[in-house]
Amino acid sequence: MLEARSLCKSFGPIQAVKDLSFSLEKGTVLGFLGPNGAGKSTTMRMLTGYLTPTRGTALIQGHDVQSDALAARQCLGYLPEGAPLYAEMTVRQFLTFIARMRNIPAAEIPERLGETLERLSLTEVACQTIETLSKGFRRRVGIAQALIHDPCVLILDEPTDGLDPNQKRDVRRLIQSMLDDKLIIVSTHILEEVPALCNRVMIIANGQLQADDTPQGLLETSRYYQAVTLQVDDSQAAASALSDLPEAARIELKHHELTVFPREGAELLPLVTKLAEQYQWKVHNLRLEAGRLDDVFRRVTTGLEA
Ligand SMILES: Nc1ncnc2c1ncn2[C@@H]1O[C@H](COP(=O)(O)OP(=O)(O)O)[C@@H](O)[C@H]1O
Ligand SMILES: [Mg+2]
Repeated sequence: MLEARSLCKSFGPIQAVKDLSFSLEKGTVLGFLGPNGAGKSTTMRMLTGYLTPTRGTALIQGHDVQSDALAARQCLGYLPEGAPLYAEMTVRQFLTFIARMRNIPAAEIPERLGETLERLSLTEVACQTIETLSKGFRRRVGIAQALIHDPCVLILDEPTDGLDPNQKRDVRRLIQSMLDDKLIIVSTHILEEVPALCNRVMIIANGQLQADDTPQGLLETSRYYQAVTLQVDDSQAAASALSDLPEAARIELKHHELTVFPREGAELLPLVTKLAEQYQWKVHNLRLEAGRLDDVFRRVTTGLEA
């Protein structure tokens, strides 16, 4: 559905994107992650045909986004970073304007507009000018313009950036509701959004792909995967008993919490709970770690362990 072939982009001496290749199928929600300046927006702009690559190509439904731009854009919705909107237009005027640009037949526009306004909960502000809207509403207008022609590929550059937690959740739910027949690429640096939203994750740093996996696959590369974290009254005594476990590779004490890391393949949870009972520790909190994405992100983008 979408293919990047050796995409490269340089801005003068800056190599923003270095030889990116991948292909994505429908039903994928790709989380596109990376530190600021990693090259996410530059890549997305090349995928959408809004920026000419220095080298390489991108194809949407087999259409080259440069040489066959009209056909490619027909299947594409794009929310640029910090999307500029026409501030003095009302929401209805703006979306009507976009619908015409998208070549939606005039007779279909009212219905399409109504559906889109409804879907993004914009109906109540349809007659307000965009400049009078709050940030969350403005972002939804941005998403509405990307969706109005019902594209099968949707590319959203930091759609939740700057929104409050409720608005973030609304945007996530909206993206989830569109999942079945589309391909969606979402860039974000909010890692907590990823497992709930995405079924594939790419991490880029310095313009290069550093990881490409499922969220679960990435979590399993975290050093916290299958570790056990607990809070007890006497952490010194507990640490000492835990370090005698042959299955424990190392113990760390951070913020009054002890984390026991397993040796390869070891199952620590039953062993730790047994010790806790045996010594009658006063346990306030005990959990099996699923892995931590911030730890994976740091390792992948900097090469450093947490
Ligand atoms: N138009 C431009 N001119 C010069 N440098 C740019 C331009 N756009 C992006 N860059 C540079 O390219 C690199 C990648 O930027 P960007 O793709 O915006 O990263 P991200 O979206 O991951 O934060 C950065 O070093 C940025 O400064
Ligand atoms: Mg960006």
